[in-house]
Amino acid sequence: MAPSRATGRKRPPRLSDAEEPARQKRAAARAAAELVEDGMRVGLGTGTTVAHLLPALAERELDEIVCAATSPQTAARARELGLDVRELDELGELDIAIDGADQIDPRGWLIKGGGAAHTREKIVAAAARVFVVIASAEKAVEELEPPVPLELVAFGALSTLGQLDSARLREGTPISPDGGLIADYLGPVGDPGELAARLSATPGVVEHGLFAPELVSLVLIGTDAGVERREGARR
Ligand code: 5RP
Repeated sequence: MAPSRATGRKRPPRLSDAEEPARQKRAAARAAAELVEDGMRVGLGTGTTVAHLLPALAERELDEIVCAATSPQTAARARELGLDVRELDELGELDIAIDGADQIDPRGWLIKGGGAAHTREKIVAAAARVFVVIASAEKAVEELEPPVPLELVAFGALSTLGQLDSARLREGTPISPDGGLIADYLGPVGDPGELAARLSATPGVVEHGLFAPELVSLVLIGTDAGVERREGARR
């Protein structure tokens, strides 16, 4: 470590811009792991922020926590770390679910699904009494912007896309673990409630990545100044 010229004392190395979001994600994930208690049934999200949550949770060595995962990747990593992962329907209601987000607006609307897992993520969030969102500071935006991830029934997927003004299959056309095709809505978001209703009402759309504030209990955002807490609208 290089000594500081002024004091001769050693300075911590500066994090590069690329490392900063990872540090913020880790801080938010660690804060969320602290909310989990012995005996809880825990929903685990998907993505790089959740990748910081899993070891933080495993390190706590809590007694008798059982988890439901939102993707095969999360389930595999959680099991590697020694967490007990079961089917969601085996657990019933969850005490808490913790997941990342692609965008978070000031009212608590989220866009999720960058990792193509938004259908299972929404089911798990809804199954939990408390849904906690963890993110780096760059995810907090003034206004939500496209893309909004979609999962489509494979049958007639091009016709379904034709019902929306501007939407296309995602590159490489990922397929969800439930057989749905992953696409993105690329038109303006405008009022997220109106867009969410429109997407939900489009035949062939299994689920979209807009998560309403009423689904969110707490948002933890890693920032330069620590972890910012935003209360969600879920009571
Ligand atoms: C996956 C998701 C993720 O939570 C979202 O894409 C954020 O990902 P990351 O934590 O990697 O930034 O919705 O479907």
